Amino acid sequence: MIPDVRHFLDISSLSTEELRAILDEAHARKAARLDWPKAKRDEDAPLDGYALAMIFQKNSTRTRVSFEIGMHQLGGTSIVLNANDTQLGRGETVEDTARVLSRMVDAVMIRANSHQDVVDFSAASDVPVINGLTDLSHPCQIIADIVTIEERMGDIAGKTIAWLGDGNNVCTSFVHAAEKLDFKLRIATPAAYAARGQEIAAAKAASADVEVGTDARAAIAGADVVVTDTWVSMGDTDKDARMAAFPPFSVNEQMMQLASKDALFLHCLPAHRGEEVTDAVMDGPQSGVWDEAENRIHAQKAVLLWCLGKL
Ligand code: CP
Ligand code: NVA
Repeated sequence: MIPDVRHFLDISSLSTEELRAILDEAHARKAARLDWPKAKRDEDAPLDGYALAMIFQKNSTRTRVSFEIGMHQLGGTSIVLNANDTQLGRGETVEDTARVLSRMVDAVMIRANSHQDVVDFSAASDVPVINGLTDLSHPCQIIADIVTIEERMGDIAGKTIAWLGDGNNVCTSFVHAAEKLDFKLRIATPAAYAARGQEIAAAKAASADVEVGTDARAAIAGADVVVTDTWVSMGDTDKDARMAAFPPFSVNEQMMQLASKDALFLHCLPAHRGEEVTDAVMDGPQSGVWDEAENRIHAQKAVLLWCLGKL
């Protein structure tokens, strides 16, 4: 990795102070432009003159639009690349692509199948690289989730977050955040789809308050926040086995009644209504999913500013 370049690959690599600075910046930038037209630039336009390239190996709605509009609000510009349309799709290496893009843009966001590709790209890049989701993690999402939790219920410290369903990439980034901030994380998954043991061990070694188990009802009991995600992530090939294993982890109204009275429901989206969450919960009064989606913009802006040395 090039020294002194601030890559945003995982929340586990940030200090608590850096994570807090990113969260505070996201809150502040959101508050400073309430009800503004979406493409109006922030007063200070701190990334005037900066360019971001985004490379997508997988589909995206929120990540693409939030980075693109966020970069515009900060005064910069962005370029979206479908990996298959680039020379990456014909075998140019991630390292050579990184060297070239480092000469052309000021930061790169990558959504990749393999986390290792993002690590390798960052090692060869002279400009900051942002993980826009990999098979391992989705750190940008968790910044937005924590912003959403904090705007509803104040500092996340002391809150209990219940994760129900797949121990997947989004779950891993929640585990990473639990190493840095003082919240309790209770994860319930089918045994075959548990959160990554290495990440759980690292979190526990860092004194994070993380519990893992297979009992959804035990995990959700009294929780302040209930989070789930799709049972079949992009790249998963065992759909039938997953659809058989996950139904006891579906977040429905009966399940939500076990959480604390005003518990917040979150989902990174896209949701599979009737599978991991019912319509009644997604569209109900406890759902924060649309704020959560909007907060991707504010989160992305704060991440970009941190990467580019503006925080
Ligand atoms: N939550 C999320 O990352 O959404 P997209 O896949 O639409 O970017
Ligand atoms: N876990 C999901 C998240 C999508 C934003 C996936 O990786 O497909």
